[in-house]
Amino acid sequence: MTDAVTESMAEPTARVATSPAEQQTAARRPDRAGSPEASGDLELVSLTKRFGPFTAVESLDLTIPQGSFFALLGPSGCGKTTTLRMVAGLEQPTVGQIRIGGEDITYAKPYRRPVNTVFQSYALFPHLSVWENVAFGLKRRRAEGVDRQVGEVLELTELQALAKRKPGQLSGGQQQRVALARAIVNKPAVLLLDEPLGALDLKLRRQMQVELKRIQTEVGLTFVHVTHDQEEAMTMADTIAVMNAGRIEQLGAPAELYENPATTFAANFLGQSNLIRATVRQRDADHAAVALPAGTVRVPAGRLPAGVDEVWVGVRPEKISLYREGETGPAGSVAPAAGLNRIDGGIVTDASFMGVSTQYLVRTPWGQELTVFEQNRDGSGIHAPGDRVSLAFGTGHTFALDAGQDAEAGIEADSELTG
Ligand SMILES: Nc1ncnc2c1ncn2[C@@H]1O[C@H](COP(=O)(O)OP(=O)(O)OP(=O)(O)O)[C@@H](O)[C@H]1O
Ligand SMILES: [Mg+2]
Repeated sequence: MTDAVTESMAEPTARVATSPAEQQTAARRPDRAGSPEASGDLELVSLTKRFGPFTAVESLDLTIPQGSFFALLGPSGCGKTTTLRMVAGLEQPTVGQIRIGGEDITYAKPYRRPVNTVFQSYALFPHLSVWENVAFGLKRRRAEGVDRQVGEVLELTELQALAKRKPGQLSGGQQQRVALARAIVNKPAVLLLDEPLGALDLKLRRQMQVELKRIQTEVGLTFVHVTHDQEEAMTMADTIAVMNAGRIEQLGAPAELYENPATTFAANFLGQSNLIRATVRQRDADHAAVALPAGTVRVPAGRLPAGVDEVWVGVRPEKISLYREGETGPAGSVAPAAGLNRIDGGIVTDASFMGVSTQYLVRTPWGQELTVFEQNRDGSGIHAPGDRVSLAFGTGHTFALDAGQDAEAGIEADSELTG
């Protein structure tokens, strides 16, 4: 299923609405004039979608507070678009309920929902100017004060100067802003964004990420943003749901998810993690001593799953410092303090200069390659392939995950071990 264009306006360009529901939305959404501008939290209750024997979305329970910027993050095929399509009313849930502001909209017609969608293909009307594109929905439902409302939204999206242009005379980023303006002008309670920046180059994407966040803060609408780009999710969202195979693996603020991943999938999908197979030896109130294949590290009690002995010990690449073996460390620094976890006997196998940082691969005595990022504060080239190094990282930056929780992720991490 391709990302459908289900904007509130009729289909202006090539793409044809495929399902009857889509055709209905495309044709009739602008007429939802009478519907109350419902607002409030978006709630998904046991939301499930099966396609024949295949479960695309499995019993999703989510509350997205009004006014929040929520990101649904996950790999291709994990059920993100299907979830959005159910919220938009383009797909019937197999089981479950969708509510906005307490009102059950599970079976409401798409055009009756206080929801607008911006999809990857913006599908602007090519023969209409920017102003006319944005005004289209308001005019169709004979809204009051069209000039004023369009003017406000064009100002918000910084499109005033381009108001008279046709879409064909705009850059990708500008077209994206028109698509957004066209959805926002309808003041939906919930704005659904399905990979809306996918067509843009990296620099423009970054710029639009900041813009989108600013616009969301200014208009105060609830944004539900779907993406498989973790950086994009972290940049914009207040809350991220990490989705895997139709389920939510973990939910939280970006920093919380990043610092405290709960599963190996979350640890690897959101940023990079070094995961080392280990066994818990001893626990006290504050810490546990965990045996690596060589050496022992300490893990804070709060970052260790209860009642589990076989674990993956995790540490993010940028949390690790490298020290040349037998030396006190890089110029001006001291040797790893006693409070730090350390792994001795590492050998640098690769050093890649990446501009802001250098990425090192370090082979441990048990043959696993760990990734280390060092910021290029004093220029690069401190460590070269072949150097013998110790790795040091704070106990507070060390986490442990249940090694039995996720067989698939375990295999993935295992292959890293041997690779
Ligand atoms: N109409 C359909 N019939 C059968 N299977 C479907 C249908 N629509 C989606 N699927 C399947 O459901 C799963 C989830 O699809 P969905 O489009 O929600 O993924 P996604 O997370 O949006 O992925 P992507 O990042 O690639 O857009 C996929 O395995 C897909 O093949
Ligand atoms: Mg999708």
